[in-house]
Amino acid sequence: MLFPIVFIGFSAQVVFGATIYVSPTGLDTAAGTITAPLKSIQSAIDKAVAGDTIYLRAGTYSPTTNIQIKKSGTASALYTLSAYSTEKVIIDGEGLPYTPADLDASLPSASRGILHIQGASYWKLYGIELINGPYGIYAVDSSYNTYEKLVTRDNYETGFQLQGASAHNTVLYLDSYGNRDPRKNGESADGLGFKEGTGAGNLIKGARLWNNVDDGLDLWEFKTGIEIQDTISWGNGFNRWGFTDFGGDGNGFKLGGGDAADIGAANHIVNNSIAFLNAAKGFTDNSQTGNFVLTRNTAWNNGDSGFKMATAVSTLTSNIAALNTNSQVSLSGTQTQSGNSWNIGGTWNNATFKSVDSSSVTGARASSGKIVGSDFLLPVSGAALGATTYW
Ligand SMILES: *[C@@H]1O[C@H](CO)[C@@H](O)[C@H](O)[C@H]1NC(C)=O
Ligand SMILES: *[C@@H]1O[C@H](CO)[C@@H](O)[C@H](O)[C@H]1NC(C)=O
Repeated sequence: MLFPIVFIGFSAQVVFGATIYVSPTGLDTAAGTITAPLKSIQSAIDKAVAGDTIYLRAGTYSPTTNIQIKKSGTASALYTLSAYSTEKVIIDGEGLPYTPADLDASLPSASRGILHIQGASYWKLYGIELINGPYGIYAVDSSYNTYEKLVTRDNYETGFQLQGASAHNTVLYLDSYGNRDPRKNGESADGLGFKEGTGAGNLIKGARLWNNVDDGLDLWEFKTGIEIQDTISWGNGFNRWGFTDFGGDGNGFKLGGGDAADIGAANHIVNNSIAFLNAAKGFTDNSQTGNFVLTRNTAWNNGDSGFKMATAVSTLTSNIAALNTNSQVSLSGTQTQSGNSWNIGGTWNNATFKSVDSSSVTGARASSGKIVGSDFLLPVSGAALGATTYW
């Protein structure tokens, strides 16, 4: 059995609770053991107590009511909901209500998310793919959770959304793509959204956000700084679904925005991240206020500006902007900049890079969860500038 390997790195101080198994071919009257697994994920969540691990065996789960997680573990007794070993686990939300919601209808909060996580802290979710749901993951007022190696794709709203009073969450190696919202003609389904919330210590690392109808990452009305590292966002904001009155925005990294009263001042940190081939901007403050720090990011081939900062007070260091359609940078207000491609000057085009082949960043991840490192968008000069996929 390979499964103990999965635990290395997060088990050190964990209380060893029970293990509950679930399988698409299980039975809810079963004992929940590996040889007699339960059938529904919800029944396992209801049975579990803090410190327990729920293993999902391979296959496709097709719930007809969304899965609700509403209880908390503790720092020393996490709940774990995980694919078993390296088995492929898909939860298909197509049978849930609101897939999609009607045009312009409202989508009740409790119905949001194949996995609806509310007031639930100290959970670890690992290795699960969520498809065709009314949001894939929807987490509200939930802290100290780790979301690792999840895939959220082809959902009818944002793939992964976190809201409310939610602090110290880590999103690690998320793939979120193909999400769209027929309800709003593409106006608000993003790959990953931290929206309308507050909470310190949230970290997004190693995500890939692509071909979503609206933005790759959207931090709309999140009032506390978020740290974003090693994340890649591409191909967002195109009407791949034939929506009429298309509303998709298409920013790679939309670092805020919202109503003046709700916008807060959020000190976002973005480093070593790449935006390419998005319909609109690579990185934008989108009217957000706060002190931003952007270090060694790359915006290449986006349909509007590479970096647009106007209301945030940013420190931009060693970033690259090249071949973006409207302008490489659009900076106004109070911005501090040094050592960026546009400060260095000279020609920045495809020939400036060792490679413009994106196949390593868009291809399969390594078993660690990292993307496979390549020379994609590294300067031929060897200068320590822009993002690197070797990390
Ligand atoms: C990004 O931030 C992390 C955490 O602060 C740091 O360890 C890493 O070196 C930074 N990378 C770059 C390229 O600045
Ligand atoms: C740069 O390379 C990309 C990827 O091959 C290509 O799509 C784009 O057209 C190139 N741009 C220019 C100006 O040559």
